[in-house]
Order: sequence, then structure tokens, then C-alpha cells
Amino acid sequence: MADPFYEPYDRDEIAYGDVPSSLVAAFAEQNGVTGSALDLGAGAGRDTIALAKAGFHVKAVDLSQRGLDRVMQRAAKSRVSDRVEIKCCDVRELKILPGTFDAVVATTVLDHIPMSDATKLWRKIAAAVTEEGFLFVEDQTTEDPGCDLVVGQFADAPVSETADAVINYFEPIQLLRMACEPESNLRVLS
Ligand SMILES: C[S@@+](CC[C@H](N)C(=O)[O-])C[C@H]1O[C@@H](n2cnc3c(N)ncnc32)[C@H](O)[C@@H]1O
Repeated sequence: MADPFYEPYDRDEIAYGDVPSSLVAAFAEQNGVTGSALDLGAGAGRDTIALAKAGFHVKAVDLSQRGLDRVMQRAAKSRVSDRVEIKCCDVRELKILPGTFDAVVATTVLDHIPMSDATKLWRKIAAAVTEEGFLFVEDQTTEDPGCDLVVGQFADAPVSETADAVINYFEPIQLLRMACEPESNLRVLS
């Protein structure tokens, strides 16, 4: 299968840069918090590397082997290779057991799979975080400029170069609603 992310991850200026998601960075920088982490749709690893540098053992999962090669390259450069493991597979196929990760990160990947799969995966990852664990999920919403709904078209931010790969735009507060479902074990921080 062709990898739509091959070129963005292959070039010198790697897509999405190397600055981690700000909330992941803030969590990673908390003194004394470490353990095991899962980065779903890790891409070229900006969040994986931030967590590994903070001391987490991170499993980075993505469909793009080129992205995962860059993860390992960056891990070597940051001398954290021993704390990074890569797995090239569909996030929907991954076996994720309850209560097994101190941090789970899914930065713009649930919006790359159909909503019914995203909902199933959400439940798995919400259950996968330990009691004191951290879950970070970011998705494109219908307000994103890449979305062809009217609200998106009025946004003035630039359209992401990989917007075509987004097949499932979330409603603006959908993730919040999912996090607040009665059976949810989550406490929403942001
Ligand atoms: C927008 S990029 C985000 C990359 C990274 N999380 C970041 O923020 O820099 C989305 C990533 O999800 C991956 N992806 C999309 N669908 C996937 C799937 N079903 N299973 C695994 N990875 C997937 C793509 O290969 C791509 O690397």
C-alpha cells in the first residue's frame, strides 16, 4: 500500500517539525513522572522523543515505516534509542490492554480512521491509561480550514499539507463529550 506520508517524512525538513505537542511537553517535563508510554500515529516522533527524553519507555506506532525510521533516527540523535520501540501497523489492529500505559498520546490520528473505529479505539486507549496516567488526544474538527464544511472555510489558519489524509473531522467538543461519558474513567484537565 502506498504511504501518503512517505514524502513528508522523507524530506530534510520533516513534516510537523520536532516541537512536541505543548500539553505532552508540559506533562513530560513534570518531575518524577515516568513509566511506559504509547504514541499512536507517532509519525516522525516529535511526541515520542519528548516523552523518551523525559524518561518514558515509549512504543511508537504508525503505518508509515518512513516515519518510524525517522523516529529511530531522532531517538539515536537524542541518545534515547533504548527507550523507544517502534511498531509499523494499523492502530486499529494493535492489542492494547487495560491499565498498561502511564501515558497514551494520539496526536491527529483518530481523525484518519472512520468514526466507528475511532470510537472503539478511544475506549481502548481511555482504559489503557493507569489510574494516575495521562491521555492526550488531538483531532481535526469541522472548524479546521482543511474541512470543506462552511465553518472550516471561514477559518484563517493555513490548511495542513496532509489534510487530504483526514477522513473524519470531529465536532468541536466531541472529544470532551467522549471524555465525560458516564462510563469514562477520565478526569479532564484541558
Ligand atoms: C497528521 S500525522 C500526525 C503525526 C504525529 N502524531 C505528529 O503529531 O507529529 C498522522 C499520522 O497518523 C498515521 N496514521 C494514519 N492512519 C493510521 C492508522 N490507521 N494506523 C496507524 N497510523 C496511522 C499516519 O501515517 C501519520 O503519520
